[in-house]
Amino acid sequence: MKAHWILPNGSTITAEVREGQNLMEAAVAHNVPRVIGECGGSLSCATCHVYVAPDWAAKTGAVGDFEDAMLDVAEAERQPTSRLSCQVKMSPDLDGLTLIVPA
Ligand code: FES
Repeated sequence: MKAHWILPNGSTITAEVREGQNLMEAAVAHNVPRVIGECGGSLSCATCHVYVAPDWAAKTGAVGDFEDAMLDVAEAERQPTSRLSCQVKMSPDLDGLTLIVPA
């Protein structure tokens, strides 16, 4: 399965992501800039903040309560499709998922 990250400079990184892997881990493994994953996915850093491309927002599911609180303190401005990418796991439904990296 593939995921795409659109970077602030307009370029795109595309990577294979295995089922069940979260999108923060996948970004770090493929050196996507600005997705840091400082807390290792324990919902305490918000350095994995991304914007889900609008076409994909419905498929990535709902934001959890704690994730919601953390998104409010993320460094980049929160937008309607903001997610913490450590909370989004790859699945067949998400093959082709496009994430926008905040500037
Ligand atoms: S990696 Fe820290 S909140 Fe996602």
